Amino acid sequence: MLNQQTFLTKAASAVPGEFGVKILLLVRQLAHWSELPEGLKCTYFSPQHKAVAAQLRDWMLSAGLETTIDPVGNVIGRYESDNLAAKTLVVGSHYDTVANAGQYDGRLGILTALVIAEYLRREKLRLPFHLEIIGFSEEEGVRFGAPYIGSSAIAGRFNESDLARRDASGVSLAAVLKQEGVDLAAIQKLARRPESFRGYLEVHIEQGPVLLQNNLPLGVVTSIAGSVRFRVTIHGIAGHAGTVPMSLRRDAVAAGAEIVLDVERRCASDAKLVGTVGQFSVPHGLINVIPGCCELSLDVRSIDDTVRDGAIADILAAIQKIANRRQVTATVKEIARHDAVPCAPQMQSALAQAIARVGIETIFLPSGAGHDAEMFAGITDIGMLFVRCGNGGVSHSPLETVTAKDADVAARVLLDVLVNLH
Ligand code: HGY
Ligand code: MN
Ligand code: MN
Repeated sequence: MLNQQTFLTKAASAVPGEFGVKILLLVRQLAHWSELPEGLKCTYFSPQHKAVAAQLRDWMLSAGLETTIDPVGNVIGRYESDNLAAKTLVVGSHYDTVANAGQYDGRLGILTALVIAEYLRREKLRLPFHLEIIGFSEEEGVRFGAPYIGSSAIAGRFNESDLARRDASGVSLAAVLKQEGVDLAAIQKLARRPESFRGYLEVHIEQGPVLLQNNLPLGVVTSIAGSVRFRVTIHGIAGHAGTVPMSLRRDAVAAGAEIVLDVERRCASDAKLVGTVGQFSVPHGLINVIPGCCELSLDVRSIDDTVRDGAIADILAAIQKIANRRQVTATVKEIARHDAVPCAPQMQSALAQAIARVGIETIFLPSGAGHDAEMFAGITDIGMLFVRCGNGGVSHSPLETVTAKDADVAARVLLDVLVNLH
């Protein structure tokens, strides 16, 4: 068996860029499956989502991993240690996407891990822990509003009440899973024993401009922002657009618009805060009718839960004040809450040392985006490696981009961490 340093030198002398070129090739292939004629959308248990799962399974099998797709759609590739009693290090990310998505969000992390697992297996280098590459099935929460379905099941944090959530066509998560032949009682059995984990690592695009601004390909994540998501429904009085004087209107959309601007004002008041109204709909809206109803989403985040919750209290109070003044009613439903989580110092330093060993300056940065890693915080040591995003750091957009060179060095750093972790 190669000793670690020889192995790493050997890996470094592998065809320069070999890993990065392969990763981007696979990313592009996965992007072929989309629910949109133009652009990428791959949401929970759509035919395209299932095709991507099957493709990941086939790639993991050809990499020589023991591979399964579990009942909630996670694709799991396992590379056993010689020590059968060893713990398991999970390296994962998600393969579902938002609508009109970038190709790298989630998938870069799965495929970087896959390429390295394939290399370890090819070089017959066994690790002191079992290695599991997991493509999590549902992180974005696009179809049912519930994020982290895949990773929460593995982490033992699956929220049974999510089964009642319905998608835009009114189908419940429970019905979709039953349609896929899933025994709902089996979901809780997917939970791993916390003591079976050696740790959790995730390689992910930064989805922001910090690495780009620092002219660095990689960064170590210090913590992941906490987020709370709401659905707000406003009821006013529909009326004729031509006959109702402005002073007599109870316009639901005008109230909603004022709320959006209040969210923006409140969250702009603190650099630690972000607030977004990403969805704003007018059911049965017509050009010549004063809207009697509108629905909007609300997503408030911060690295600091107290700051976030203070902003939420102010926003909810403002919503009621605006509604009262405009004589409309506003109902607010909290649909998901995830507190901020720290990345384990031990994982941060393992990543930082590996980055230093490939001769790159190390910076540490928080993640404003949520990640599957959150589900494993508090259960095992979590670590995240950020990869530079081009085009100004844009993400959740077809403009999302990563270079093969940066993907390659991310893969080599991941390899170095795996070979040096005990
Ligand atoms: O919303 C997020 O932060 C992630 O993209 N799911
Ligand atoms: Mn995302
Ligand atoms: Mn993501």
